[in-house]
Amino acid sequence: MPMTEQNRAGILGIGVYVPEKVLTNDDLEKMVDTNDEWIRSRSGIRERHIAAPEEATSDLALQAARNALADAGLKPDDIDLIIVATNTPDTLFPATACLVQDKLGARKAGAFDLLAGCTGFIYALSVGTQFISAGACKHVLVVGAETLSRITNWEDRNTCVLFGDGAGAVVLGPAPAGRGILSSMLGSDGSGGPLLDLPAGGSRLPATSETVDKKLHFLHMNGREVFKFAVKAIEDGTLEALAAAGLKKEDVNFLIPHQANIRIIEAATKRLGISLDNVQINVDRYGNTSTASVPLALYEAVREGRIKDGDNIVLVAFGAGLTWAAAVMRWFVNK
Ligand code: UT7
Repeated sequence: MPMTEQNRAGILGIGVYVPEKVLTNDDLEKMVDTNDEWIRSRSGIRERHIAAPEEATSDLALQAARNALADAGLKPDDIDLIIVATNTPDTLFPATACLVQDKLGARKAGAFDLLAGCTGFIYALSVGTQFISAGACKHVLVVGAETLSRITNWEDRNTCVLFGDGAGAVVLGPAPAGRGILSSMLGSDGSGGPLLDLPAGGSRLPATSETVDKKLHFLHMNGREVFKFAVKAIEDGTLEALAAAGLKKEDVNFLIPHQANIRIIEAATKRLGISLDNVQINVDRYGNTSTASVPLALYEAVREGRIKDGDNIVLVAFGAGLTWAAAVMRWFVNK
């Protein structure tokens, strides 16, 4: 969907937070039958951050949100809406967004969570953008935050080497003329739901001692099938969002893909004909942080000076649902 010039939204500030504890591949070698060589060559991951026992998703989200607000030069009361994209909420309800609203002291904000697998941050960005375009909100806080370590089966080498904890947040607000979020696309294919899920703890399979014994409260994944879907999702999502913005792949200055696996990023960018020189990669240091991955990568690209005023940036992600999404923006520096 293209965004009209009127009331176009853009990113006014960005902030991140990662827990202090680092878990390396060498550490994992002591926990499951794996090794550093396998993890690096199959996924590109070297280490990931793990939340402290007392840290829940809202705590990570809060730090990222505070940093994003400071970067935007705004106060909590300037925020009209808080959307937290997460797959690991503090509790099934109330929404983690409400916990962030309270801890932040954002007394004038509505707040809700959004669940769209690892694609959640771009879904939330798109939703927040619509509120601003419609004139219903001036400033929207969009957060992607996860404590995936809490739903990881640390005895399953197929999954436990891949994920990490972290949070990223942006403040959306009015963009200057010719800048801001130009378009977005949202995709879903629920028939692929069983490829990546957390089977128990919801209304289908409420928690019982049996579901706990069968380890049904952990993330389950068919890695090979998700891999194939992911490469195509990045390519299709990028092209669709670019077309909606009236741009071609040659117009892309910088790509921020979901950081799940370096091989997925390499395969998809090769198909798109986008040089890896113009792609942010940090999966080596954080692993797959799900909804936090795109804002974490965007934050680093901005801080490293890799994105300039007027650049065309594509954010693109895929994940459980199955879902995929992309957003195209023309970057500006908020002064
Ligand atoms: O945000 C979206 C979430 N998920 C993803 O994006 C994941 C997408 N998928 C992937 O990234 C890859 O499929 C994986 C990294 C999960 C796996 O890589 P792969 O090249 O597809 O490996 P595979 O699943 O085909 O497994 C190859 C072998 C298997 O052994 P056999 O059956 O060939 O004897 C696995 O048992 O590697 C074995 N293996 C491991 N060996 C050492 C699986 N995990 C490990 C491990 N250490 N941690």
